[in-house]
Amino acid sequence: MRKYIVGNWKMNGTSNDLGEIVAIGALAQLHNNVDSALCIPATLIERAVTAVGAFPIGGQDCHMQASGAHTGCVSGEMLSDAGSVLTIIGHSERRAAQQEQDSDIRAKAEAANAAGLKAILCVGETLEEREAGKALEIVLAQVTQSLPDAAAGGWLCVAYEPVWAIGTGRVAEPADVTEMHAAIRRALVERFGAEGQKIRILYGGSMNGDNAAVLLALPNVDGGLIGGASLTAAQFQPILAAAQAIGK
Ligand code: PGA
Repeated sequence: MRKYIVGNWKMNGTSNDLGEIVAIGALAQLHNNVDSALCIPATLIERAVTAVGAFPIGGQDCHMQASGAHTGCVSGEMLSDAGSVLTIIGHSERRAAQQEQDSDIRAKAEAANAAGLKAILCVGETLEEREAGKALEIVLAQVTQSLPDAAAGGWLCVAYEPVWAIGTGRVAEPADVTEMHAAIRRALVERFGAEGQKIRILYGGSMNGDNAAVLLALPNVDGGLIGGASLTAAQFQPILAAAQAIGK
């Protein structure tokens, strides 16, 4: 499977940063063994799409409805209309701050698919849950409950992002990543049969140029979801290069 490297800019980026997006898009073209994309604030999507050409630009959430009385929300149709081809769903920052539940996330993934978007559906345990020995149980329950029945077919990937590793510089141990990705893979195959082998499982949480080669070489790690280290082309480049070196 080709590696999939996706940047998540979170609530960062204004028109001043369009040049950086263009630089990242140009870099991505040089790494032709790798699939890559950048998920940016909704306000920048249309301008970024115009500026980067073919490089895939995405959003970071979408509402479960296509339109309606939902002040401040953005639908999958709107993201698609602005030129997005993907969106992140169920990021732990939204699960925590917006109290998003697995059932919401499942509905959002279905809405993204209905709008023609690819989706990166995030799962991950908190530090408290890991220390209580519940990481596998929590993450597998999220996978079961937040993935829609129609998750196979190439439009959805899962991102395993331990909450305690996000933005902290504390990356998960390779053995723990291997164990979790294997468990997620088993759950996907159990539910979707052979198609479950093809659903990409990304790792996210303090991935950077120093640790990407090790993480991306682990079994069932089909790519990365990268926050901080996706904000500049200079930091994103070594991650793309690590994926390129492993990719076929
Ligand atoms: P980070 O964020 O790379 O800054 O840890 C990853 C994410 O939240 O997707």
